[in-house]
Amino acid sequence: MNVLILGSGGREHAIAWKLAQSPSLEKLYISPGNAGTRNVGTNIPVDLDDFASIKMIVIEKEIDMVVVGPEAPLVGGIYDFFRDDYVLKDILVIGPSKAGAQLEGSKSFAKDFMANYSIPTAAYRTFNESNLQQGFDFIDTLNAPYVLKADGLAAGKGVLIIEDPNEAKNELSQMISEQKFGEASKNVVIEEFLSGIELSVFVLTDGTDYVILPEAKDYKRIGEGDTGLNTGGMGSISPVPFAREEFMDKVENRIVKPTVDGLKKDCIDYKGFIFFGLINVNGDPYVIEYNCRMGDPEAESVIPRIESDLLELFVNTAHEKLSESTVEFDPRTAAAIMMVSGGYPGNYEKGKPITGLENVNNCIVFHAGTTIDVDDNSIKTSGGRVIAVTALGVNMGSALEDSYANVDLIDFEDKYVRKDIGFDLINIE
Ligand code: AMP
Ligand code: GLY
Repeated sequence: MNVLILGSGGREHAIAWKLAQSPSLEKLYISPGNAGTRNVGTNIPVDLDDFASIKMIVIEKEIDMVVVGPEAPLVGGIYDFFRDDYVLKDILVIGPSKAGAQLEGSKSFAKDFMANYSIPTAAYRTFNESNLQQGFDFIDTLNAPYVLKADGLAAGKGVLIIEDPNEAKNELSQMISEQKFGEASKNVVIEEFLSGIELSVFVLTDGTDYVILPEAKDYKRIGEGDTGLNTGGMGSISPVPFAREEFMDKVENRIVKPTVDGLKKDCIDYKGFIFFGLINVNGDPYVIEYNCRMGDPEAESVIPRIESDLLELFVNTAHEKLSESTVEFDPRTAAAIMMVSGGYPGNYEKGKPITGLENVNNCIVFHAGTTIDVDDNSIKTSGGRVIAVTALGVNMGSALEDSYANVDLIDFEDKYVRKDIGFDLINIE
């Protein structure tokens, strides 16, 4: 089977690394990929918005399956594009239809879906230009802090948590009337603030059945102790110590099953990952957000713990035969540490040579923002998040020890890592 993975981050490298181990794999392509995916397949440059070019690659390389890494092509309808194209209709696509991707693409869609199927989530209302005044009144009925969410995709920046009610009203006006996040904030969800510890749960579904993959915790803020600006994610740990059987049973019965059943009831075609961003409020799980793809950097700790053949799981997903799959997981803990460019998530420089990659041991190096310099074949930085180093250990401490030891061996100018990944889980373990 020939497979094309779309995307260029650590998540896509992790998926490529795992698929490359499958006996059913013939050729693996990654578009556009990065310097690391070159080690397990062939990179082909492409603009992920350009479905016509993706079609050309699929035809030329005789691709049988397309695995969609990031959300944007899914929200843009790449699944539907394949389904509705005479030439592409039999190609297997891992990722939901455009309607299914609305779970991530529209916060108000996701909230209404959860309300319809009684899935636990924060109380909310949606506002736009036509009922802005009611938005101000709604803020007056809530206790601080106030959670304001741009309805559409806003590159992870569309959620504001504000202490002061007047500032919240001011931000609401800016989001709606001044389009602070462009089209994405024409509609704004205001919701109740939930207090607890977050974790992410991942499911692969064929639209009827599902497999729950190992859960993970990611560290979104740039600064130690979860301070400073939000990033794409600075590291992840899997499993999560507080996600014990009783809690995970609640997650499955109150959240996962009703979500998969609800999609089916709503006739939404969904064959791919569902990422449940959850919060544990006094032992009860609530949904903070859905994503229609794997997490990044969660994939870098979750995928190495999947012992089964991921390609076979994908084939069964696409053929609606997931009930026939058995899945085994590595019980050890995986810790993924993200190495980022100095200045990220603000301005940072690219093109810094990366050294020491040949010295690592007892770990897996997943590339994110890296590129090959064709002039001298060296590997250089090309993004904010540069490399994730994942190690597995009998407990979180030993996994972290190995991943940090290897992080020290890899170098580039102005590299930055958070030194406290897992800090909040130590006493729970
Ligand atoms: P989202 O993009 O919806 O995941 O929101 C980004 C982050 O904002 C989440 O990871 C949470 O840390 C925080 N957040 C979002 N919604 C809430 C909420 N209702 N209560 C508390 N924190 C929230
Ligand atoms: N790490 C969070 C995400 O992938 O959205």
